[in-house]
Amino acid sequence: MDKIVIEGGRPLKGKIKIGGSKNAALPLMAASLLTSDKVILTNLPKLCDVKTMDSLLEVLGVQTTLLMNRISMQAKKIKRFEAPYELVRKMRASILVLGPLVARNGKARVSLPGGCAIGARPINLHLKALEDMGAKVKLAEGYVEASCSRLKGARIVFDVVTVTGTENIMMAAALAKGQTIIENAAREPEVLDLANLLNKMGAQISGAGTAVITINGVEKLHGATHRVIADRIEAGTYMIAAAMTRGDVMIEDVETEYVAALIQKLKDIGATIETYANKVRVVGPKEILPTDIKTAPYPGFATDLQAQFMTLLTLANGTSTITETIFENRFMHVPELVRMGADLQVEGNTVIIRGVDKLQSAPVMASDLRASA
Ligand code: EPU
Repeated sequence: MDKIVIEGGRPLKGKIKIGGSKNAALPLMAASLLTSDKVILTNLPKLCDVKTMDSLLEVLGVQTTLLMNRISMQAKKIKRFEAPYELVRKMRASILVLGPLVARNGKARVSLPGGCAIGARPINLHLKALEDMGAKVKLAEGYVEASCSRLKGARIVFDVVTVTGTENIMMAAALAKGQTIIENAAREPEVLDLANLLNKMGAQISGAGTAVITINGVEKLHGATHRVIADRIEAGTYMIAAAMTRGDVMIEDVETEYVAALIQKLKDIGATIETYANKVRVVGPKEILPTDIKTAPYPGFATDLQAQFMTLLTLANGTSTITETIFENRFMHVPELVRMGADLQVEGNTVIIRGVDKLQSAPVMASDLRASA
């Protein structure tokens, strides 16, 4: 399917259950490379990216069974240590196999992901951290080659907060010799979920979910079963959709703490929010109030909700601004929204949004996943 047709103009009403988190599932799947035992994940989202990661793991020699929302993965032996361009090109998160492969296998060859619709997205910090842990890293023919007979613990200070960088190094450090301390670590719930699985597998990780993570390397990890956390971005997307259509939606199976920054902004624009254990009800306001937003690493306002919130603010009764601080090119949706009648002006990494009464239908291009939603 390369086209979705939407008949607009209706408030959204009802309830919806949120699926498992994409950005938690992908690193959790990569963690299966760290042990020869079986790792089982449940509450997996049904997504192309999950299938791509499954294919990549199979290429590397992992025996996988993916059935509905459950996957069983067993990496008895790593048969190949290369993540090929064809798969990495499809999904940047393929880079998550780098840390586990070097840690378990002593070497890895992973295609450089290249730029994407939202920015250049370098991986220099992943590589620098692996070097700090004793790996030899070189770039050849568009691939990163990293090797080390056994990684050793190190103090890693990330220049900027990187989610997959933190995850890659946490996985590598789980099997390294000695202690690794990651400073300025990403505090995203998906990082915590990965640490929880790794600890179930026998790793010794503390501090995940804070800016300093300590990992005491162990010789071996074992199998485990784990339920993927709910997708806070999917939940947030429906919350915004409910508010902007002046709807009334109960979003179920969501960790309300993980969407706290969004809840605050939805209250600011006039929505009524009721929170329950694992549920949020969003009632859209009669009149959407303008607000100002700056994206930031967790627990700040997520860049993955920026496009959706901008869409909502196109209908506010005044002028709002959104500043994107994480990705330099994450405004691909701006010209598309303009085609629908939005009044938007880009000034560097800020968009000035002057509210209009109504958006109009138009054919638009889907850029990145979140903007498309
Ligand atoms: N950065 C570097 N060097 C690095 C790594 C990152 O300069 O080595 C920079 C990036 O260019 C960016 C910033 O650091 O400016 C943050 O990037 P980060 O590494 O945190 O992003 P990521 O790990 O590649 C994950 C999510 C993204 C999400 C970002 C930010 C996964 C699989 N992807 O990407 O999700 O936007 O964190 O929260 O977890 C999405 O789901 O739509 C999506 C893009």
